[in-house]
Amino acid sequence: MSDTASTLATVKNRVFSGAQPSGNMHLGNYLGAFRNWVRLQDTYECIYCVVDMHAITVWQDPAELTAQTREAAAAYIAAGVDPKNSILFNQSRVPGHAELSWIFNCVSRLGWLNRMTQFKDKAGKNREKVSTGLYIYPNLMAADILLYKATHVPVGEDQKQHLELTRDIAQKFNHDFGVELFPLTEPIIMGEGARVMSLRDGTKKMSKSDPSDASRINLNDDTDTLARKIRKAKTDAELLPAKADMLEGRAEAQNLVGIYAALTDISRDQVCADFEGKGFGDFKKALTDVVVSKLAPITEEMKRLQADPSYIDSVLKDGGERAQMIAAPILADVKKAVGFLS
Ligand code: AMP
Ligand code: TRP
Repeated sequence: MSDTASTLATVKNRVFSGAQPSGNMHLGNYLGAFRNWVRLQDTYECIYCVVDMHAITVWQDPAELTAQTREAAAAYIAAGVDPKNSILFNQSRVPGHAELSWIFNCVSRLGWLNRMTQFKDKAGKNREKVSTGLYIYPNLMAADILLYKATHVPVGEDQKQHLELTRDIAQKFNHDFGVELFPLTEPIIMGEGARVMSLRDGTKKMSKSDPSDASRINLNDDTDTLARKIRKAKTDAELLPAKADMLEGRAEAQNLVGIYAALTDISRDQVCADFEGKGFGDFKKALTDVVVSKLAPITEEMKRLQADPSYIDSVLKDGGERAQMIAAPILADVKKAVGFLS
C-alpha cells in the first residue's frame, strides 16, 4: 500500500451520498435522504453529490439538467447541508467517477446486475430500448462511493440492494487484485420516514417520476398546494387506532401517520395515542400544520438560493476541487493495482 493510501485508510468514518437532479424534489427525498445527511454532518466527514451522470441514464433535456442540478444543490443546502463543513459537488466535475466505474464494469458480473430490482422497475417491458447506462448504473454508484473509500452511506430503503452490490464489487476487487484497498461500506437507513409512500396509493413509493403531481409533496410546493394535496390524500373511513400496529392493512393511513411521526420526531405509536378515535379529517388538518411548519422554511430558502445561481455554482466548484483532492490518490492506487501504466 502506498503512503497516501495507508494514510487514507486511517479515515474511519467517511459518509458519501447522492441524489439525482431529475426535478420534483419531494418529501420522500427529504425524510429518506437530505434530513439524515444533515444529521450526520457533526459526526462524520461528509461528501454529498448531485449525481448528474446517473440522471442521464434516462433522457434529460440539457438546459433542464443544468437547472435541476442547481435546484438539487439548493435543496441540499436549504435542508441544512453546510457546504463549508461538508463537501457538496456535482458528479461529472470529478472525472474519477467515470474512470472508476469503467474499472468496476469489468469487476461486476452480469448475474449481479440482473438481480437489481430498480433496473427491472425502471426498464419495465421496455428492456430492449433503455440505455445501457441504466443497466450498469449500480456500478457507477459503487464507483461514487469507493472513489472516496466511504465507510457509510445514508440512503432510503430502496437503495439497499445497490449498497450490497457495492460491497460485492469492493470485495471482488480486493480479492482479484490481492489488495486491501476498498472498505466494505455500510448503509445507514434512518428511522421513521425511511420509506414515504404516494398520497394517491399507499402501496407505491412517493416518486419524482409519478405522473400524478397530487401523489407527492414537492419541496417547492406553496402552502396552498401542500394543504390541498394533504386534504385530497387517499385515506379510509375508519378512525385512528390506539397503536400503530393496528393500522395493518391500511396502507394510506399508515403512510400519513408515518409522515407525521417522522416530521415531529415522535414514534408512530405516540401519534396514534395522541389522535386515537379521531377521523382523518381532523388528522389531516394537524398533519398540514406540521408539513407547512417544517417545509415552508426550506422552500423559502431554496427560492432564495435559486435566485443566485452564481453562488450555487461557486459552492459546487469548490466542492468539486475538494472532492478531487480526496479522489486523486485513491484512483492512483486503483490504477496501479490494476496494472495501468501512468
Ligand atoms: P431519488 O429521488 O430516487 O434520486 O432518491 C434520492 C434519495 O431519496 C435516495 O436516498 C432515496 O432512497 C431517497 N428517496 C427517494 N424516494 C423516497 C421515498 N419515497 N421515501 C424515502 N426515501 C426516498
Ligand atoms: N442511486 C441513488 C438513487 O437513485 C443515487 C446515488 C448515486 C447514490 N450514487 C450514489 C446514493 C452513491 C448514495 C451513494 O437514489
